[in-house]
Amino acid sequence: MEIIIKKDAQEGSCAAARVVARLVRAKPDAVLGLATGSTPLTLYKELIRMHNEEGLDFSEVVTFNLDEYIGLSADHEQSYRRFMNENLFSQINIKLENTHVPDGMAEDVPAACAAYEQAIADAGGIDLQVLGIGSDGHVGFNEPTSSFASRTRIKTLTRQTVADNARFFGGDESKVPHHCITMGIGTIMDARMNIMLAFGANKADAVAATVEGPVASIMPASILQHHPSAKLFIDEAAATDLKLADYYRWVYEGKPEWQADA
Ligand code: GLP
Repeated sequence: MEIIIKKDAQEGSCAAARVVARLVRAKPDAVLGLATGSTPLTLYKELIRMHNEEGLDFSEVVTFNLDEYIGLSADHEQSYRRFMNENLFSQINIKLENTHVPDGMAEDVPAACAAYEQAIADAGGIDLQVLGIGSDGHVGFNEPTSSFASRTRIKTLTRQTVADNARFFGGDESKVPHHCITMGIGTIMDARMNIMLAFGANKADAVAATVEGPVASIMPASILQHHPSAKLFIDEAAATDLKLADYYRWVYEGKPEWQADA
């Protein structure tokens, strides 16, 4: 895993955006895996800026989002479909029919999950997956002890995730759905590249456990230690508990030109 420590979320997000943009320029029909939550918002703003000011072209790009709440329709204020439409898709030249978010209203959830996996495979697999991390180490909505072999499926959120995400529901935990559809950890590990973003002191514990702790399903993000191409973009606050932070800075600063892609 490559650890990239930047001064703040803005700089970290811009570095991550350069990796996404490089892929999209090299492969205009790239398949992107996308995430929601507050963390990727600055990344999406930077991609929108690159689209407006530098002509970054999303017309052939295909996307698959990680997850969706069960029971929220696409137009619900807190659905991840609506989040993506408002914060990214409506502001770039992507074709809406090329964007995919699990259907939280599916009547047959297992069938919808299997179809989602098939759609990813039919698209040729995910080239680059964007990830955030929950304070309990979840990726997508793969809560602690999720199987590392899991595929897209229904999951139950932990009480901590319900509490963490209540801020999006007016602070009212009772409004947060307890179930979701999420890509599995196996699905995420199949992406050819994973880039994870984590900013702020409340992510420091999870970041340290992900990077330097044992690989264990109690800390789902730790599986990225096994991914051949994973980059973690963090700010100084999220880097606080890393034992080898100075080493990661030294590696990044001394990266040879041919390796410098962020
Ligand atoms: C949600 C999402 C995750 C996200 C996490 C962190 O639970 N399902 O994909 O990484 O929250 O959210 P935030 O970035 O707001 O801290």
